[in-house]
Amino acid sequence: MSITILGIESSCDDTSAAVISDQRLLSNVIAGQEVHKEYGGVVPELASRAHQQNIIPVVTSALKRAGTNVEDIDAVAFTRGPGLLGSLLVGTSFVKGFSLARGIPMIDVNHLQAHVLVHYIVTEKEAASPSFPFLCLLVSGGHTQLVVVRNHLEMEIAGRTIDDAAGEAFDKCAKVMGLPYPGGPMVDKLAAEGDAARFSFNKPRIADFDYSFSGLKTSFLYFLRDQVRNDKDFIEKNRADLAASLQKTIVDILMDKLEKASKSLGIEEIALAGGVSANSGLRNAMVEASASKGWKIHIPEFRFTTDNAAMIAITGHYKYLRGEFAGKDIVPKARMHF
Ligand code: KG4
Ligand code: ZN
Repeated sequence: MSITILGIESSCDDTSAAVISDQRLLSNVIAGQEVHKEYGGVVPELASRAHQQNIIPVVTSALKRAGTNVEDIDAVAFTRGPGLLGSLLVGTSFVKGFSLARGIPMIDVNHLQAHVLVHYIVTEKEAASPSFPFLCLLVSGGHTQLVVVRNHLEMEIAGRTIDDAAGEAFDKCAKVMGLPYPGGPMVDKLAAEGDAARFSFNKPRIADFDYSFSGLKTSFLYFLRDQVRNDKDFIEKNRADLAASLQKTIVDILMDKLEKASKSLGIEEIALAGGVSANSGLRNAMVEASASKGWKIHIPEFRFTTDNAAMIAITGHYKYLRGEFAGKDIVPKARMHF
């Protein structure tokens, strides 16, 4: 018997719905929210209103693209948290109504666990999924964690950021350079044209497998402030070199701890996940580490790096197999760990 799961993601500023049948992706529709651009960051109240407008069209479109009838859905999985409470509430409320109307179970999903499980979505690319245990560097706008993945639903955090996330470091430094939000993809693009050895920024000294990015942000800000004092066009003239040097610093910080953790835990099966795993510098560094250290690496398809419902549906699939369903009184949670 096949298992078909509808997944719903609404934790931040993307409204997404996906259909997965026996791990195979049938559709994955994502509606982004342009409304936040002019504010330089996500405005929670505007995000939840946009989710309300988007959710029904997005689900309708996901079912249509999948060629799936609503009667064929066995369960509906949704992001319970972590995320913005108002945004999560829209997804949770929709799913409660859908499950009640269809008489099918709801499955609550941890957004972070879902990012890690993108590697098990079956697509036309037929990439090999990681075997257990593996180490996953989960890097997004809200999180930076080294996760030891024991099986599909058992994960432990080996290290995490003690302050900003790597995506936040990209975005905040990009903002200082006058780039629009979110700056990460723009830094990546500019970096391709720049000299990464031109400038150097301080790297943190943090114990164990933990990360810190707030010092880099401050040192980047002060460096630019001093340079602009002497030459008001400094940023404009050096945009590409600044982006390349910044990107290299962030990637070096991420890779140093990943290498340390791999060595110390004796795990050489390594995966990336989360929005920042779209970064070309990080992807290249992984390919280099695979060649020099013999790591078996897993890099997600670009469409699964940022928030999407396919990752929620695949997590739902594994919870369905275990019979882990949510009660009707389930509520979203802004803060959640693994
Ligand atoms: O996973 P995600 O979509 O949302 C969160 O759960 O946070 O990650 C978004 C983050 C943003 O900080 C964005 O700037 C960053 O991922 N990002 C990138 C790139 N693409 C997205 N950072 C660096 N290079 C990229 N190519
Ligand atoms: Zn995310």
